[in-house]
Amino acid sequence: MSKNVIAIDGPAASGKGTLARRLAAHYGYHHLDTGLTYRAVAHELLETGTPLDDEERAARTALSIDFGALDRTVLSAHEIGEAASRVAVMPQVRKALVEAQRRFAATPPGTVLDGRDIGTVVCPDATVKLYVTASPEVRAGRRAAEIASQGQPADYDQVLADIRRRDERDSGRADSPLKPADDAHMIDTSDQGIDEAFEAARSIIDAAL
Ligand code: C5P
Repeated sequence: MSKNVIAIDGPAASGKGTLARRLAAHYGYHHLDTGLTYRAVAHELLETGTPLDDEERAARTALSIDFGALDRTVLSAHEIGEAASRVAVMPQVRKALVEAQRRFAATPPGTVLDGRDIGTVVCPDATVKLYVTASPEVRAGRRAAEIASQGQPADYDQVLADIRRRDERDSGRADSPLKPADDAHMIDTSDQGIDEAFEAARSIIDAAL
């Protein structure tokens, strides 16, 4: 029997990451936050002073990313997310990371992957596909609170503008744009907390397993 794969997509700060971690813990599955893989490439380019649009260097960097050593604390900075969305438009970078993501997805007994193109491109045959979303205003509020909790200055209007720009770049790119798969279940977290979102996801997944 093939492995169970739970694919979770959605825009920045939609709550998909928290949901993915909770679901992975609940089902005893391995979890990969694929955003971190794009962030790791962006981080390496920034650290080495490489222009973010150098596709050849970026693709070589993508091939060298160690999925077992992705450090969320180091990679979580808002600016790295912004740089990651610029790196993520390049087909050669996507090709390298998607191949490694697919290998990860096949790990027994099952996996949860979250990102932008998991249900549409990385794992089109996933057991269950969820698309997690929330209004830009709610997402900006969450992201601003997160930045403030890290002791950094957070300007809500600036964060909202960044979120809108990132949504536009992620949804508008030619290669693997952010969009729900035709067979994805929609979860809108604008008016619900993580516990409610988790329960909604769990009943969808239990029905499919
Ligand atoms: O989810 P996170 O904010 O960490 O993702 C950073 C950026 O990486 C996204 O804005 C997006 O451009 C890119 N990404 C992607 N495909 C994925 C995951 C992330 O293009 N599967």
